[in-house]
Amino acid sequence: MTRLFVNVDHVATIREARKILEPDPLKAALLAEKVGIDGITVHLREDRRHIQDDDVRLISQNINTKLNLEMAAIKEMVDLALELKPYQVSLVPEKRQEITTEGGLDVCSQIPELLEIQKSIKEKNILFSLFVDPDISQIDASKQAKADSIEINTGRYSELTDPKELEEELLRIREAALHATKLEMRVFAGHGLNYDNVQAIASIPEIEELNIGHFLVAQSVYVGIEKAVKMMMQIIKSAST
Ligand code: PXP
Repeated sequence: MTRLFVNVDHVATIREARKILEPDPLKAALLAEKVGIDGITVHLREDRRHIQDDDVRLISQNINTKLNLEMAAIKEMVDLALELKPYQVSLVPEKRQEITTEGGLDVCSQIPELLEIQKSIKEKNILFSLFVDPDISQIDASKQAKADSIEINTGRYSELTDPKELEEELLRIREAALHATKLEMRVFAGHGLNYDNVQAIASIPEIEELNIGHFLVAQSVYVGIEKAVKMMMQIIKSAST
């Protein structure tokens, strides 16, 4: 079955609206884990708009599954990752004004810089992943940057409504996944996934892991995080087996 990592950033978004202690992303992570997910994802943004350094520390020390730390390719974040040693580091592009991650990393233009980060990350036995658009040249560059895995950006896929465009984007994602596998990189996917659009992604055999956040946190408001996550796991299971 395709693995599920739950992104708890937006639990912290609600907390930061009041700058108090609740809701707590660690508590949400522990509840999500009870349902049998494979890991927790957090994105420590440079502007600290949701997850804070202490959240990453506490989550890293207290969860029972694996931590996937999403971050920008900058020294401040690399230093923190080297200190906390998460299971996996996923490099994502970051723009201050964006509401959420807007696209994949431009790996092609920064291979030497990424190789330097890769070296320090791998010295600590942390998995090194790159978030990229379903673009063959970015995937080739990811291999050159010695990525263990790529996470395919499903953001565009999740926004399309025209059936023809949707089918074309899915085809791009399938081809990208196959290409990365041939280059011996593992393939993950995420961004904008929900109960309706996750099936087509989870049924791509090369895609091993999904990162899902906003929809699950939103759904938790109605039914609680355990039920929300359980339902997602059921859909992923039926699509991927
Ligand atoms: N993967 C990456 C690299 C992301 O930046 C995000 C959003 O933080 C996600 C997955 C999860 O996206 P969503 O919150 O839309 O499910």
